[in-house]
Amino acid sequence: MTSLAQKSKPSFVIQGLAGKRTLKGTIRINGAKNAALKAMAAAVLFEGPVTLNNIPNNADIQTMTEVLKRLGARVETVKDLDRGLSLLIDPTPISSTDIDKDLAGGMRASVVLTGPLLARYGKVSFPAPGGCVIGARPIDLFLTAYEQLGATVSETKCLYDILGEKLSPKEIAFKKISVGATETLMMLAVLLDGKTTLNNCAKEPEIVNVAQWLNACGAKISGAGTSTITIEGTSGKLLTPKIPFVTIPDRIEAGSFILLAALTAEDVTIDSCEPKHLESLTEPLKASGVSVEIGQSSVRVTSNPNSPKTFKAFNIETREYPGFPTDIQAPAVVFLTQAEGISTVKETIFEGRFKYVEDLILMGADISTISPQQITITGPSELKQPIDGTELTAHDIRAGFAIVLAALIGEGKSVVNNVHLIDRGYEKLEERLRNIGADVVRV
Ligand code: EPZ
Repeated sequence: MTSLAQKSKPSFVIQGLAGKRTLKGTIRINGAKNAALKAMAAAVLFEGPVTLNNIPNNADIQTMTEVLKRLGARVETVKDLDRGLSLLIDPTPISSTDIDKDLAGGMRASVVLTGPLLARYGKVSFPAPGGCVIGARPIDLFLTAYEQLGATVSETKCLYDILGEKLSPKEIAFKKISVGATETLMMLAVLLDGKTTLNNCAKEPEIVNVAQWLNACGAKISGAGTSTITIEGTSGKLLTPKIPFVTIPDRIEAGSFILLAALTAEDVTIDSCEPKHLESLTEPLKASGVSVEIGQSSVRVTSNPNSPKTFKAFNIETREYPGFPTDIQAPAVVFLTQAEGISTVKETIFEGRFKYVEDLILMGADISTISPQQITITGPSELKQPIDGTELTAHDIRAGFAIVLAALIGEGKSVVNNVHLIDRGYEKLEERLRNIGADVVRV
């Protein structure tokens, strides 16, 4: 908790529900941030303007738009639809391959642009990418793969220069599973001359979403969504913008709202989502006693006065897809503070993803740190602000959502600072929560 308000950045003021499950209505899920950002990077592989639909209107998308514009690309918001944005990106006027230092420093996804830029222009320079402060987040897998394909990599004061006029396809085995490295190398290989095989790939649905679009526009990618991806390169021929990219629903946003509904809903439907992508969350929630109804593209969570007051505890170990997502770990821990029994939560993807736990403990949660990557939670505990208006901090996008959830289920009034971090992944969160009856105001 902090004692001073951070006046220059927005905060949320949240009136807690004190454990009551009274929220009602529908929350519509936006397009997946982590697919849309990669499709924006993939636009560099095309011979002319591409259209990307169902793009979420959040801060990371705005940063990526700015990164592309500074390279010289034309980026226009074609329609500000009720459902997200429709973007037009024309890579033709790109005149620089130097990714902006200040912008990239704030967003990890900028590193994904290095693959398409290197493939098309034979060079790229970029700073060590920033993003959420959730662990070391190295880029060794990218650099090693570039070298394996024949590029030269040099680094001065955290600025990387990659040169690779003539890259040769190879079989690459990632020594660790990485979403970003998988999609970056997949995109790069699209323009190479010959067959690239990527082993030990990430299988996230967002990778499949981008691969299917690229294939519809002339790429030859097979195996996306499995651990081996093979790409037959076009020998430098740029892709043809045959169909628009349509972003799949954001499974992390959906999962976050399902957890919120589990603790606060009388009857809330999470709509326009893909329930198949959410089974690693909905299955344990059902077993824990949450009333979850799975539809074609919706998940409904209900409770009534006779519903159990608490749920059964369960253990979580975060894993690559289809395992339990690291990005839903923090709101899931808030859920487990309200479950009966002891749960163990092991974070296996990132090192620094339990910073928010301190605020939960101050609110009354019974959480012990076993190691930097493992905690146990004994529940249920009533979460309560020691003083009305106590200030809490959003440490990153997902931990920020978790703190909002804790404030919402707790007793008393909370102020959540650093809301600009939550804005990176959840568009207009306060409006969407108000629409289902929550008392959340942005100040
Ligand atoms: C993506 O990050 C997401 N970001 C993250 O979402 C998500 O948490 C993560 O995948 C895991 O699902 C985007 O898609 C923009 P990784 P990414 O490479 O690609 C290590 C959110 O809140 N690693 O799969 O950066 C790395 O340190 C964000 O939306 C290396 O060791 O994640 C981590 O331990 C946060 N060397 C593990 O791999 C490398 O060169 C997995 O990271 C690259 C990664």
